[in-house]
Amino acid sequence: MCRIQLTIVLVAVVGLINAADTVPKTGPAVLGEFTKIGLSNCVGTQLAAVPDTDQFLFMERPQSNHPDGKSFNAGLMDSVTGAFTNIKTPFSMENCGHSYLENGTVAILAGHKPQSSYVEGRRALQVLNLQSRTLDSVGSLQFGHWLATATRLPNGMITIMSDSPSPVGPARKDGIKNPFYELWDPTNPATTKAFQLDNNFLSNTKYFYYPFNFVLPTGDMFVWSNKYGQIINPLTGKKVLVLPNWKGIPQAKGMCTQYPFSGTAAMLPLRATNNFTEVEIMVFGGQWSYGWVNTTAVDLSMRLKIKILPNGTYDVGQWQAETMPSPRVSGTSVLLPNGMVLLINGAKRGLLGDAVAGGDAMLNEPNLTPVLYDPLASEGSRYTELARGSIPRLLHSAAGLTLNGTAILAGGDRSSRYWMPADEAYSPSSTGFAEYRVELFAPPQVFDTQNRPAIMACPFSIGFSDVTSIAYLIPNTTARVTSVVLIAPSSDTHTFNMHQRIVELEILDSDNDNNHVGVDGDRSVTVRGPPNANVAPPGPYMIFLLSGRTWGPAQWINVVRS
Ligand SMILES: *[C@@H]1O[C@H](CO)[C@@H](O)[C@H](O)[C@H]1NC(C)=O
Ligand SMILES: *[C@@H]1O[C@H](CO)[C@@H](O)[C@H](O)[C@H]1NC(C)=O
Ligand SMILES: *[C@@H]1O[C@H](CO)[C@@H](O)[C@H](O)[C@H]1NC(C)=O
Ligand SMILES: *[C@@H]1O[C@H](CO)[C@@H](O)[C@H](O)[C@H]1NC(C)=O
Ligand SMILES: *[C@@H]1O[C@H](CO)[C@@H](O)[C@H](O)[C@H]1NC(C)=O
Ligand SMILES: *[C@@H]1O[C@H](CO)[C@@H](O)[C@H](O)[C@H]1NC(C)=O
Repeated sequence: MCRIQLTIVLVAVVGLINAADTVPKTGPAVLGEFTKIGLSNCVGTQLAAVPDTDQFLFMERPQSNHPDGKSFNAGLMDSVTGAFTNIKTPFSMENCGHSYLENGTVAILAGHKPQSSYVEGRRALQVLNLQSRTLDSVGSLQFGHWLATATRLPNGMITIMSDSPSPVGPARKDGIKNPFYELWDPTNPATTKAFQLDNNFLSNTKYFYYPFNFVLPTGDMFVWSNKYGQIINPLTGKKVLVLPNWKGIPQAKGMCTQYPFSGTAAMLPLRATNNFTEVEIMVFGGQWSYGWVNTTAVDLSMRLKIKILPNGTYDVGQWQAETMPSPRVSGTSVLLPNGMVLLINGAKRGLLGDAVAGGDAMLNEPNLTPVLYDPLASEGSRYTELARGSIPRLLHSAAGLTLNGTAILAGGDRSSRYWMPADEAYSPSSTGFAEYRVELFAPPQVFDTQNRPAIMACPFSIGFSDVTSIAYLIPNTTARVTSVVLIAPSSDTHTFNMHQRIVELEILDSDNDNNHVGVDGDRSVTVRGPPNANVAPPGPYMIFLLSGRTWGPAQWINVVRS
């Protein structure tokens, strides 16, 4: 009896090994792939996808060694052709925030004190003008802000939130250490309203730069900095509740996530299947409170579930710690159409920052291996390491989702001033100081070509609860579209992709036709638009179709007030 059981177990184990042998373990379809697409003239310290195009607006700290010999501090990178076009602005823009007007125009908010030939930018409010290739001034903030998170609200207004003064150098006249934000209404652009946050933000966080802000499906705003957070009403500045912290979780004690300890954060997809009542916020990596230039970064992620109850109140869970495959500070996150999170760029040691007058970088040991986090996998198997890259992107780097469903990777500053273990190969910047090479990272799912749905016809706008059909083709005749998502354009800098948001739509009907009959052989999927502006603040989105976990190329679409 015993013997028979053993034999069965053995056969089963051998069977497993054989099955595993037939599954490829390497190659782009398993590990994804990096490709270089070109050189930018300015460093991709900050990037914002430009709606209705394949382009990304890049912005930098002024550098003296641009590939074209010029000194524009902004420009457009085309993610398909690799071509770069300079953009003119008078303002110093490093450390600004970026967001979008409802009509899809890119808005640049706040910036930097005068640098090189660029004038004071901390109060600047600018919009991108594609025709004149300029950033046009449209108003002014009341106070100087930098390292400010810009967040587009359901009513079309934008918050600009940061501690005001510089963490280094003398305090500025307009800044005492003070967490507050300004509310800008693009339809009345000349000025703003300012709101004071309670001082717990400073006493609990020490720094309050590029806070992790997310608009919840109630219209309230999740605000997190370092080890502390609240849900606030962004229109009044009033606290709704204090979020749980992770002080009581032994392995997370001392984990800090905001500049200069910079981890990254993302809100997982909002889904029609739970009527948009479940929110999950992820925070990945960062640095320990005692961290310095050679301190190993945080190798944990934290996940918080927030349920919205029928009476509009919140049921907030506790942070759940998970171990990442490697430590990461100064990396960033790209939400992928299937809800997985790509963690990329950054270092294994140090802090995001530098000695301002041209000193050493404070980040060391580039983390060249991107990681995929699958929130739907079972605990303990949610992380996968992907193909290793070769170009370090530490301080002042960024990433964002392209219309093709890949990630654009840019930037890197103080590029010769870090150390890497002697046995680890990498490709240093040829200019030493800054990194101008731009890459794409294609996640594994992009190579599942049989199951990539291609959009053939889709409206250019969608209203709340609008019923809309989208025509598509898919090579696999037995596959069909099983998910349709809206993704807000990437706006990333200093580890925070501050505008990405996924809204999964309700599917009302999905063509099961295996014979591809229909107009021009297309198939179709019918969806209901997002329910309201709190779930999907109106403005530009990309629409992606998925078959299982595989997505195809997207199309730009505007969510409009109906
Ligand atoms: C989209 O990405 C795939 C995979 O990297 C590539 O084969 C294809 O050429 C890309 N298409 C565009 C328009 O960039
Ligand atoms: C969008 O709105 C802004 C501000 O009102 C305006 O400057 C811009 O021309 C508009 N863009 C388009 C494409 O309509
Ligand atoms: C979904 O939520 C909305 C409020 O956002 C509510 O009006 C509606 O009744 C809910 N639908 C269901 C089926 O629970
Ligand atoms: C950090 O480590 C590097 C490499 O081992 C070493 O050269 C450097 O002196 C260290 N820096 C500090 C501040 O300990
Ligand atoms: C909302 O509903 C929850 C769960 O039923 C309840 O505990 C809470 O007291 C309610 N809050 C308000 C303000 O009605
Ligand atoms: C085609 O789609 C079906 C249904 O989703 C799936 O079972 C099958 O594995 C797919 N074939 C290929 C080659 O991907």
